[in-house]
Amino acid sequence: MTSLIGQRYEVKVGSVAHGGFCVARHDGRAIFVRHSLPGERVIVEITDGKEDSRYLRGDAVEIVTPSPERVDSQCAVSGPGGCGGCDWQHVSLKGQRELKAAVVAEQLKRLAGIDREIVVQEVPGVAGQPEGLHWRTRMRFAIDEQGHAGLRRSRSHDVVALQDCAIAHPRVLEAEVFGATWPGAESVMVAAPVGPTVETNETSVLVEYRDGTKHQALGPATLVNDAVDRLWRSRVDGFWQVHPSAPAVLVDAVITAAQPRPSDVVWDLYAGVGLFAGALAPLVSDVVAVESEAASCRDGERNLKDLKTVKVVHERVDKWLRQQADPQQLDAPDIVVLDPPRKGAGASIVGMICGVKPRVVVYVACDPAALARDVALFAAQGYELGELTAYDLFPMTHHVECVAVFTLS
Ligand SMILES: C[S@@+](CC[C@H](N)C(=O)[O-])C[C@H]1O[C@@H](n2cnc3c(N)ncnc32)[C@H](O)[C@@H]1O
Repeated sequence: MTSLIGQRYEVKVGSVAHGGFCVARHDGRAIFVRHSLPGERVIVEITDGKEDSRYLRGDAVEIVTPSPERVDSQCAVSGPGGCGGCDWQHVSLKGQRELKAAVVAEQLKRLAGIDREIVVQEVPGVAGQPEGLHWRTRMRFAIDEQGHAGLRRSRSHDVVALQDCAIAHPRVLEAEVFGATWPGAESVMVAAPVGPTVETNETSVLVEYRDGTKHQALGPATLVNDAVDRLWRSRVDGFWQVHPSAPAVLVDAVITAAQPRPSDVVWDLYAGVGLFAGALAPLVSDVVAVESEAASCRDGERNLKDLKTVKVVHERVDKWLRQQADPQQLDAPDIVVLDPPRKGAGASIVGMICGVKPRVVVYVACDPAALARDVALFAAQGYELGELTAYDLFPMTHHVECVAVFTLS
């Protein structure tokens, strides 16, 4: 069937969809248009699709009628055919938050049947930096055939070599990975330590080679961040929240949602290096933190070693929950906090959590579609969605972080 790649059509852009694009229609077919905005008339160039495709993908290469939320991009390589790292460089920050709110609301409506007005809250940015820029403290740069570091084009393996990055934290840029060449490398991970007492610590750079080997090129393999009144060790290739405001914003949201009581038992599932376990421990009786990555568990134990009521368990959440199937055998939890990876929790895990009948479940979600699917699963088990707060922890990208609370109806 004939490819339509390179064809251009003038279209009126409709609503935003999950994934960093808006939907337009042409000849009865949907086109997912990057770099456009709802209400705009644009010339879209097709980047993906054939004559018989059900839908097409494209890039807005010419703006005929711009949206009032359209602004000049702060990055020389974002935009049609450019770097895929940012989706919304062409949108005001207020406009970005409105787009993200619309996506969360639409996913909730479509996948969980819930009508809810969503507001995405702004979070404090990085001191001295323009709003919405230079916030990302951890980045994995891909390496091109010439050994230069960059980011991939949208939906492509091609690497756009970079000289600069508008969302990288200044401490990430200090590592100067763009000025160097990285022969044989697959990727270069950069992680910057942030927080009041660690500002002068070295940035970490870990090189991952195509043959599977790794080399710590700069700084320590385990770095220390200072957040919410505690020092947090985490590996450069392990998990730590990437926005400097995320630990404080999310800890506050989780505590507000959980309403902990001194006698409570808490399960912190997908615990990473113990952020929520550490924040909740002083407020409750006992915390079990479950995490599948061995190095994160070791860091978590060291991070929280003064908190004698926290137990770190190195296990997969599904496996561990199965072992807790008999709630009589142990202290059943009053509060379950879960912060799963992008794919969400799914039916089996939601079922096992609801089976031990916690008073409250707090769900931290980085993917609104996965969250909405899990909202429907919780509802089927009698756990109703209460407050849902959303935070703009990933400016310039389509990503948004949500904190949802569920209680037994
Ligand atoms: C989104 S991170 C959240 C970490 C932590 N809550 C935080 O805010 O720093 C998800 C964590 O879940 C862990 N993880 C992924 N799959 C898992 C599984 N099946 N069981 C347990 N932990 C898992 C990852 O290693 C990662 O540390």
